[in-house]
Amino acid sequence: MTDPGIPPRTFARSRAMQDRLHDLVPGGAHTYARGSDQFPEFMAPVLVRGQGCRVWDVDGNSYVEYGMGLRSVTLGHGYQPVVDAVTRTIAHGVNFSRPTELELAAAEDFLGLVPAADMVKFAKNGSDTTTAAVRLARAVTGRTKVAVCRQPFFSTDDWFIGTTAMNGGIPAAAVETTVRFDYNDLTSVAAALAGDDVACVILEAATALAEPQPGFLEGLRAQCDSHGTLLVFDEMITGFRWSAGGAQGVYGVAPDLSCWGKAMANGFPLSALAGKREYMELGGLRTEEDRVFLLSTTHGAETSALAAFRAVVHAYRTQNPIGLMEAAGRQLSTEITAAVRDAGLDYYVEVLGRPSCLLFATRGPDGQPSQAYRTLFLQELLRRGVLGQSFVTSAAHAAADVDQTVAAVTEALVVYRRAIERKTVEGLLEGRPVAPAIRRTAEPRYIARA
Ligand SMILES: Cc1ncc(COP(=O)(O)O)c(C=O)c1O
Repeated sequence: MTDPGIPPRTFARSRAMQDRLHDLVPGGAHTYARGSDQFPEFMAPVLVRGQGCRVWDVDGNSYVEYGMGLRSVTLGHGYQPVVDAVTRTIAHGVNFSRPTELELAAAEDFLGLVPAADMVKFAKNGSDTTTAAVRLARAVTGRTKVAVCRQPFFSTDDWFIGTTAMNGGIPAAAVETTVRFDYNDLTSVAAALAGDDVACVILEAATALAEPQPGFLEGLRAQCDSHGTLLVFDEMITGFRWSAGGAQGVYGVAPDLSCWGKAMANGFPLSALAGKREYMELGGLRTEEDRVFLLSTTHGAETSALAAFRAVVHAYRTQNPIGLMEAAGRQLSTEITAAVRDAGLDYYVEVLGRPSCLLFATRGPDGQPSQAYRTLFLQELLRRGVLGQSFVTSAAHAAADVDQTVAAVTEALVVYRRAIERKTVEGLLEGRPVAPAIRRTAEPRYIARA
C-alpha cells in the first residue's frame, strides 16, 4: 500500500493520543468538526503547534493547513502583531470588575468597520450571538416564530440544533416555532412570512457555494420591512473573509442585526452581536421598555481577545489580507482544476467556491458525492503533507505553499484515478470513510477502542 516515492509518515503518537482523548473527551475533540471521524481512521493528527499556514503534529509531521481553525485564523498562526498585542495586554490583567478603555476602543474599531450597526456587544462564541439576535427579535416584535435559511449552521443552541439530525435531548417545542426558507428563493421567503408572525429572518448573506442572485438580498430586505420582521445576517464566516465589513460590506444590503465571530481576533475567542440602536438599546439601560437579556458573560470582555481583535483591525486597515487569501485561493483553484483535467478526473474532483473560502467536491465512479472517495483524497493529501477538509486559505498561504499543495494534489489524483478505474477504494483506503459531523448515530466503528 505504501507508495515507495513518499517518505513514510508515522501517526503512532497521534493514534495513541486520539484514543486517550476518546477516553477523556466525548467524541475525542471539543468541536465535532475537529473530530477523528472527520479524518482518515489512522491519520487523525494531534497537533502541537502552528506557524503561518503550517502546523506540526505529535509525531513531528508538518503540514500546509487549510481551514485554519474552522476559518477563525485569517492572518496565519502565531501572527506576530497579534501575539505582541495580546502579550503586552494580558501582562496587565485579563478580567476586571468594570469595563476597560480597551472595550470602548474595540467597540469603536468594530463600528467603524460595520456602518449598518450603531451598537455592538461582545461575547465569546458565535452561537451566543445568533441566539441573542433571535431573542432580541422576539422581544422587539412580540412574535415567537423565526425563519431560518436552509444553510449549514447557525448555533449550538436548541432553536437550531433541534432542527438537525442530532436533536437528542431537545424538546420538540424548541423548534416548533422555527420555519425554513431556501436561499436565493424569494417565493419561499414570502411563504414563510405570509402570516405576519415571524420575528426574524436569519441567514448567511452568502456562503462559499452560493452568492446572492441579483435582487435576492434587496427583495429579502423589502419583504422583512413589509411584514415587520427583523433581518439578521450571520456574518460568522463572511466577516473578515468576504470583507472586513462582512457580506453586508460587499453586497450593500443592511441587516437590522448581525452576528460575528470566527476570524474577528485571528483565532482568539471573540464574537459580537451588532445592530441598530433602536433594537440593541433594549438590552441596555437607556430604555423605557422592558429590558432584554441580550448577552452578559463573565468572559465577554476579557482583554486578550479584544487586544487580538484590535491588532486584527489594524492589519486589515494597513494591509490587504483578503487580497492575499483570495490570491492564494485563485492560484489553488486554477492549478488544481488543471491538474484534475490532466488526470482525466474532470467532475470527479472539483474545487468550488469563493477564492477565500474554497471547498472541494469528491465524487465516486457513479458521479455521486462520495465520503469514501473524499477520505481517500484526504488520506493521500495527509501522506504528502497537506491537512485540510477544505482549501480555505489565509493571508499566510504564499505561492510556495500553494505550489507544494498542488504537487501533493497532483500525486493524490493518481491514486484517486486508480480508485475510479477500479470502481472501488478497497485496497487503497485504509480504514473507514469519514461521515458528516452532525449525524444521528455514532456507528460502532467510530467508538471502537484500541
Ligand atoms: C455560519 C455559522 N454561524 C454560527 C456558528 C456558530 O459559531 P460558534 O461555533 O462560534 O458558536 C458557526 C460555526 O461554525 C457558523 O459556521
